[in-house]
Amino acid sequence: MQVWVANDYDEMSRQAAQLIADLIRKKPTAVLGLATGSTPLGLYAELVRLHQQEGLDFSRVTTFNLDEYWGLADDHPASYHRFMWDNLFSKINIRPEAVHIPSGVAADLDAECARYEEQIRRAGGIDLQVLGIGHNGHIGFNEPGTPFSSRTHRCVLTTDTRTANARFFASMDQVPREAVSMGIATIMEARRILLLANGSNKAAAIGAAVHGPVSEEVPASVLQRHPDVIVLVDRAAAARLQKAS
Ligand code: F6R
Repeated sequence: MQVWVANDYDEMSRQAAQLIADLIRKKPTAVLGLATGSTPLGLYAELVRLHQQEGLDFSRVTTFNLDEYWGLADDHPASYHRFMWDNLFSKINIRPEAVHIPSGVAADLDAECARYEEQIRRAGGIDLQVLGIGHNGHIGFNEPGTPFSSRTHRCVLTTDTRTANARFFASMDQVPREAVSMGIATIMEARRILLLANGSNKAAAIGAAVHGPVSEEVPASVLQRHPDVIVLVDRAAAARLQKAS
């Protein structure tokens, strides 16, 4: 794992955007895996700026998002579909048909999961997967205990995760209890992984992911087995790292 420590959130976001921009310039047909949540907001704002001011071209890029809440329609204000269109896709020149996000309301969930896996395979796999991390070490919505062999599947959210995400909903009982997420094996097939984290409340999870034993109890620890991972964090999230670079 390469560990990069940025001075602050803005620098982390700019460095992450630069990595993605370099990839797109080198490979205009790049396939990106994307995350939602607060962590990548600065990254997406910077990608929008690079598109608007420096002409970064997304016209041949394909994207796959990690996850969606189960039960939320695409146009629900707290859905990850809405999040991605509001914060990134509506502001860049990506083709709508090149955007992929699991459906939270598919009639046949197993078929939807299989379809998602097949779409990733047909796109040639993911070149660069962006990840955030939960306080409990989750990646995507793969909570502690999720098998490393998991593929796109329906997940039950822990109370910890629902509480952390309650800020996006009017009240706790509106926070969905389940989600659809790429599995851990799906994530591990990405050719390169960029794990982002900021803030002191992520320091313990980052420490466990980078230095802890590889265990299904800390889903992000599986990344130690991937050949090309960049962990890009701000100083606060680096507090439990033994060797900061
Ligand atoms: C989001 C996702 C989650 C988040 C994680 C951190 O698509 O898969 O794993 O990355 O919960 O969320 P934030 O960034 O809001 O702290």
